[in-house]
Amino acid sequence: MIPQHVIDTILQSVDLPDFIGETVALAKKSGAYEGLCPFHTEDTPSFRVYPDHYHCYGCGAHGNALEFLMEKQGLSFPEAVRALASRSGIPIPASKPAQESAPDQLSGVRDVLRRACAKYQQLLLGPSGGPGMSVLNERGIDDDTIIRYGIGFAPEAWGTLTNDRTFRWEPLIAAGLATPKREKKGCYDFFRNRVLFPIRSDSGDVIAFGGRRVGDDGPKYLNTAETELYTKGSVLFGMQQAKQAIRMTRSIIVCEGFFDVITPAQAGIEHIVSTCGTALTDTQAELVLSVADLVFFCFDGDGAGLKATWRAAEMLAPLASDRHEIRLCRLPAEEDPDSYVRKYGADAFKEVLDQAPTLTAYLIGEITRGAKIPEARAKSLAVASSIWRRFSAPGLKVFFRQYACEALQLSPDEFDRLAATAPARPGDASIRACPCCGCDGELITEENGHRVACGQCQLTTKLAATADDARNLWNRRERPRMKSPAAKNNEKSD
Ligand code: UTP
Ligand code: MN
Repeated sequence: MIPQHVIDTILQSVDLPDFIGETVALAKKSGAYEGLCPFHTEDTPSFRVYPDHYHCYGCGAHGNALEFLMEKQGLSFPEAVRALASRSGIPIPASKPAQESAPDQLSGVRDVLRRACAKYQQLLLGPSGGPGMSVLNERGIDDDTIIRYGIGFAPEAWGTLTNDRTFRWEPLIAAGLATPKREKKGCYDFFRNRVLFPIRSDSGDVIAFGGRRVGDDGPKYLNTAETELYTKGSVLFGMQQAKQAIRMTRSIIVCEGFFDVITPAQAGIEHIVSTCGTALTDTQAELVLSVADLVFFCFDGDGAGLKATWRAAEMLAPLASDRHEIRLCRLPAEEDPDSYVRKYGADAFKEVLDQAPTLTAYLIGEITRGAKIPEARAKSLAVASSIWRRFSAPGLKVFFRQYACEALQLSPDEFDRLAATAPARPGDASIRACPCCGCDGELITEENGHRVACGQCQLTTKLAATADDARNLWNRRERPRMKSPAAKNNEKSD
């Protein structure tokens, strides 16, 4: 942990216009410096640099030198501090060994994960990295990408970390990197003979790894188990590296796999993240919708990918707002974004994205596909009306209905009349756990309307006209906002 006074000294040592001017053309203008914003695309300058901060009047980018480095280069807070310190020639006091400096056990776990990541990367790039390198070379992954994503290699050995004296067993086990032996004392390495992809938290810390097998042993991918630091469904692989491109393009692509992120990213499509094989969760969907207005989902072209696409679309209906444009892509059956980009190139992949139907068009297309005979159309109507009820954005809701009417050749009045009596589908009435405390939300019907409230912490929606509206309001509630990564890190280093 770097002490706050050192961080302050480092920040004070930087002439901000000078520092930012190294990568952004700036011109002096009435007391500040001005240039084209490096965080979004623009033709007239709205990016201003003051002695202690920068601010973009176009996209709202804002921060100090450390935040600039974090955003621009995707560095974590400690990495940014180190980079800036070495630029200014300020020494950083060596961090004390975990056991002394860690009243909080988690900081020891974080430390182990960070150092393991560095060690695995050295091993990949060193003389024993051959097997890992060959997997990456086969896919055309270059050294820059390996370094950018922190990819590493765990050799075929039981003690790469556990026999290394600089690692203590306890935090290794807590981090999911070592397994205690059953009969005897001691433990052995969790990852053996695998290419490793570090999974990072919102603030850039390594919190888990995904490991691709190199030989034929074991499952194709193995992930560290969930720990106190890592909840599978609440992170997206590659977010840290994608941040700047997301800002620039104002869009994001969500796919399934590790290679599905790094192959397109290496080919210049950097605003891409992955769910790492889990079905999209509410938390991931909310995260994605909070960082970009234009969101592409591009899962594998196989049957499982198609199913995942439908599930995502159904799930997005209540979460999407009218400012969002959600697109659901479909790849040929045998391809995923990784193989598609390698086979046909980045431009062809962009074409797939551009051609992808929007959320409403995709849903209506899927719901009414092949529905010619009356029975099939009746079934389509039931599905369409139940999904229509789930939309909460007023515009999307209107146009979804209009689109459904056209596709099913119904008048809006008929649609409403039939929809009112169509049976609800499972999931329609689901109420998410309280975003604040995780307890069950309850639907409460009052004289003038309905609301959903948490029995535990008293969080409640406003009064809504229908039970559906109340559920929608509740299910869309955001988690109480977390602190910015910089603020969190500053706290840690105190
Ligand atoms: P895929 O089977 O599509 O993997 O699973 P892939 O990325 O195309 O694999 P390659 O290209 O053959 O290496 C997609 C994602 O699902 C997770 C991984 O995150 C993977 O990237 N997964 C897959 C697992 O967690 N475990 C598995 O056994 C398989
Ligand atoms: Mn795949």
